[in-house]
Amino acid sequence: MNRFDKLAEEWDLEPRRVLMAKNTFNEIQKKVSLLEEMEVHDIGTGTGLLLLNFVDKVRHITGTDNSKEMLDILANKLKQSNIKNTSLKLFDADIDNLPINSYDLTVSNMTFHHIQKPADLIKRIYSSLRSGGKICIADLETENGTFHSKQNLKGVYHFGFDKNEFLSWLEEANFINTTIETIFKIDKEGRKFPVFLAYGEKT
Ligand SMILES: C[S@@+](CC[C@H](N)C(=O)[O-])C[C@H]1O[C@@H](n2cnc3c(N)ncnc32)[C@H](O)[C@@H]1O
Repeated sequence: MNRFDKLAEEWDLEPRRVLMAKNTFNEIQKKVSLLEEMEVHDIGTGTGLLLLNFVDKVRHITGTDNSKEMLDILANKLKQSNIKNTSLKLFDADIDNLPINSYDLTVSNMTFHHIQKPADLIKRIYSSLRSGGKICIADLETENGTFHSKQNLKGVYHFGFDKNEFLSWLEEANFINTTIETIFKIDKEGRKFPVFLAYGEKT
């Protein structure tokens, strides 16, 4: 059982997480016009707090995650709401292959700081997008290691990201029209942690 397997049952009980995913979705919508023929991929989808916003707006969403327990919670939600246009896949974004030329939009919320080689994943995401496809990644800006409690640091590979460096990874992967901006601040135990949204387009 990994750390997220253990957290799965209680994940949605923290209002901060629900709010964070909703904020990210709203900001994605400012960058991307969601169309009903689109195929979307959500990496590190968890219990679907971001993914569920897309289900009535696009043709199909694939949610991937390496925590079976998180995916099981989401599978239950999909079943209960009779949502049919979503596939879930147990998938380790650090090692498993992404399909080529398969998605119109790849999104991710608060997952990249758990990825060992984010620049490499961004390149693989580029290959997985169709021509004209878009990437939208939301995650923490550089923090001092206090966002996660000490007992929850396993699997945290980055204390947030420097926005310029993250943007350069998108450019190295050949994304164009790239932007990165602070979209909101997470209020956690009286401290504010800025979150960015990184955006790019495949030619
Ligand atoms: C902070 S949670 C965010 C979940 C969801 N995106 C949300 O906004 O609520 C990070 C998610 O990334 C997943 N994750 C961590 N490392 C991963 C990896 N290497 N491959 C795929 N998913 C991973 C975890 O299992 C967890 O569900």
